Amino acid sequence: MANAYEMFSVQVTEVEQATAQIKRFTLARADGQPMPAFTGGSHVIVKMADGLSNAYSLMSDPRDLSRYQIGVRLEEQSKGGSAFMHERVQVGSELTISTPNNLFGLDPTAGKHVMIAGGIGITPFLSQLHELEGGEVPYELHYAFRSPDHGAFQGQLADGPHAANVSLYVDSLGRRLDLPALYAGLGEDAHIYVCGPKPLIDAVIEGAKAAGIADARVHFEQFAATPAEGGAFTLVLGRSGRELQVEEGMTIIQAIENVKAAQVECLCREGVCGTCETAILEGEAEHFDQYLSDEEKASQQTLMICVSRARGSRLVIDL
Ligand code: FES
Repeated sequence: MANAYEMFSVQVTEVEQATAQIKRFTLARADGQPMPAFTGGSHVIVKMADGLSNAYSLMSDPRDLSRYQIGVRLEEQSKGGSAFMHERVQVGSELTISTPNNLFGLDPTAGKHVMIAGGIGITPFLSQLHELEGGEVPYELHYAFRSPDHGAFQGQLADGPHAANVSLYVDSLGRRLDLPALYAGLGEDAHIYVCGPKPLIDAVIEGAKAAGIADARVHFEQFAATPAEGGAFTLVLGRSGRELQVEEGMTIIQAIENVKAAQVECLCREGVCGTCETAILEGEAEHFDQYLSDEEKASQQTLMICVSRARGSRLVIDL
């Protein structure tokens, strides 16, 4: 897959505090020109100062290209990006963002869309809801969050045109999503989409498997930086033969940058943009990215060195 991002400048025109942890930023071109078109579920990469960058879902209406809106949760385990957005970005700030890309679009063959969101994972579904408005394919959104104070944009969902299709699950009030019951009532052509914390994504995927729902009907997206799970391994840079140790909790990119072993391109550092795609020369990768398809992952031709690791003790890559 070719990396298709182009970068351009935008100005922040509005900042709203949606919950104690979540801010909504409205972005527009300073010259008033329309933003590039996008489809529901798309994301952009936001580049900040100090080399920070994060991917954020577009949550605004794809039919309104006068602006984009993104929701940013202040992450406790932040690499710095969400803290930068919350503490240093205000109305009038300039940011560089990428053109949108969609790795989480609604499947056009679906007979029904079943969307499951946890916490800040609500954002891609907000743009998709706009897209579904007035359409013929039935849909439902199940939105789970920790307490009434954590449910960003729940007012707009409960009062808006989609209210009849939205169910809210507030953990602190004892209202939880019953996945087996949800799956039991689904037709063979329903597609399931999940975005949110990893435990929710894992539960939705495993529950779907247990219910006999084909993998192709289950779609997920998670941008929170994937922890570099897995033990230490030896990384060999094939062009120079140089060997590096990638420790547990460290990414391949970090190992390379720590000793300036090679020049690497990386935009999102979250396995989303494809910029750091690197050929595998020997060994196999444990893939943690959102960018490669299942077939591409299985082919073991390339890996995203910002998040993926070796499967085994040694990996040789084309750098
Ligand atoms: S830097 Fe974006 S996928 Fe690795």
